[in-house]
Amino acid sequence: MTATTTTQSERLEDLVAHDDLTPLMETTTSADPAQVYERLRARWGNVAPVLLEPGVPAWLALGHREVVTVLRNEGLYSRDSRGWNLFADGTVGPGSGVGGVLAPRDGIYYVDGVRHRHLRRLLDDAFESVDEHRLAAVVERWCGLALDRVLAEGEADLVADYARAVPLLVMSTMFGLDADQARAMLSHSRRVFEAKGAAGGESLDAQRALIADLVASCRAAPSDDLTSALLRHPSEPTDLDVQSAVSATLILGSQYEVAWITQALRLRLTDPRFDGRSGGLLSAPDTLAAVLGSTPPATNAAPRFVVADTTLGGRKIWAGDAVVPGILGASAESRAAGDDIWLEPANLSYLTWGAGPHACPARRPATVIAQVAVAEALRRLGGVTLTVSPEALSATGTLWSSAPRALPVRFEQHRPAR
Ligand code: HEM
Repeated sequence: MTATTTTQSERLEDLVAHDDLTPLMETTTSADPAQVYERLRARWGNVAPVLLEPGVPAWLALGHREVVTVLRNEGLYSRDSRGWNLFADGTVGPGSGVGGVLAPRDGIYYVDGVRHRHLRRLLDDAFESVDEHRLAAVVERWCGLALDRVLAEGEADLVADYARAVPLLVMSTMFGLDADQARAMLSHSRRVFEAKGAAGGESLDAQRALIADLVASCRAAPSDDLTSALLRHPSEPTDLDVQSAVSATLILGSQYEVAWITQALRLRLTDPRFDGRSGGLLSAPDTLAAVLGSTPPATNAAPRFVVADTTLGGRKIWAGDAVVPGILGASAESRAAGDDIWLEPANLSYLTWGAGPHACPARRPATVIAQVAVAEALRRLGGVTLTVSPEALSATGTLWSSAPRALPVRFEQHRPAR
């Protein structure tokens, strides 16, 4: 390991002034994210300063022990960004890039303690009530429609035309939107994803309005959808509570799902171990499990804001600093060393779902959606090949997740539409 040139007690604001810090986006857009993590670890140890955007520094926790410490201790590492010193001093505002995403809000991702547990119980119980056979049937239906279109064309981008569409359409249906409303949700979401500034804000408002109407109509005429299940919850949630829970899932929830499905399709299209050329043909669940082990869909979890001065990984951390739990780095390290008490043997990619009170509540439905989506694509798209070389595939990243920008494919033999 290269010697680290650090006193382990510099303040973030001094490091940002004196050093060329690595942008966190490098961990999601680089061709080899694991190597970016290793470079940071060699330079800084298990807690490294990074930039969320120019002039906005944060700590990145890179070690397994440090990441679980942060994720499991919300009393010290809070999700509530009102405690972030860069908000307090005006460096970051709610209208700017990362400030827009991290600004304080009343939502499950943004609060801790009693309010979080209330919203969380609603979602946990709603996901618990999901009938997996029915969910699988909904996924098959949306996959079928998307694949019919793709097959009719003879060529497609499996990211835009398939993987980015299916999870949101499925979750919208499960929450009670009809097919046209689900498509409207998707087109607003595409605009949020592509647009910068005001246009993105308008589409986000349109999504929120669709959700508010959905909650009002389920309150007036409950049915067997997840929104009605939330409204029926014994804790008697308000309409705003339910809107908040539905928004968390529909607006923010499926980003990791898209990453998981696209990375699995990329493996099948580019790696001979997965496409049958080397002998055996791995199933969709095997391919998805391989993705969790190598490129976890959540590269980094959302930042926590430090409540009181502390030390992490031997480094002094100050109240008001932001700390990003680096899931990819922690997973890689936990595979290398086996002496950690949190480590669950034989399940080395468990951190891929997070840990502690904010760990993913949608693990079961997320797995059903990904398995059916990947299996259906493999079943229907016979003779599919990439139209570019694997090296030409680039990654598109947010601060938290990485996925291939596009998977342009052509089909040599068309399978008939069902
Ligand atoms: C339909 C798909 C999905 C939905 C609806 C969903 C929903 C959510 C929600 C609502 C939270 C916030 C929980 C809280 O703050 O209490 C969350 C957290 C999380 N999810 Fe998922 N998720 C989905 C798929 C995935 C997938 C595929 C992965 C990765 C394999 C994943 C990994 C995570 C992680 C790591 C967190 C924790 C983030 C943190 O601690 O800051 N999710 N998810």
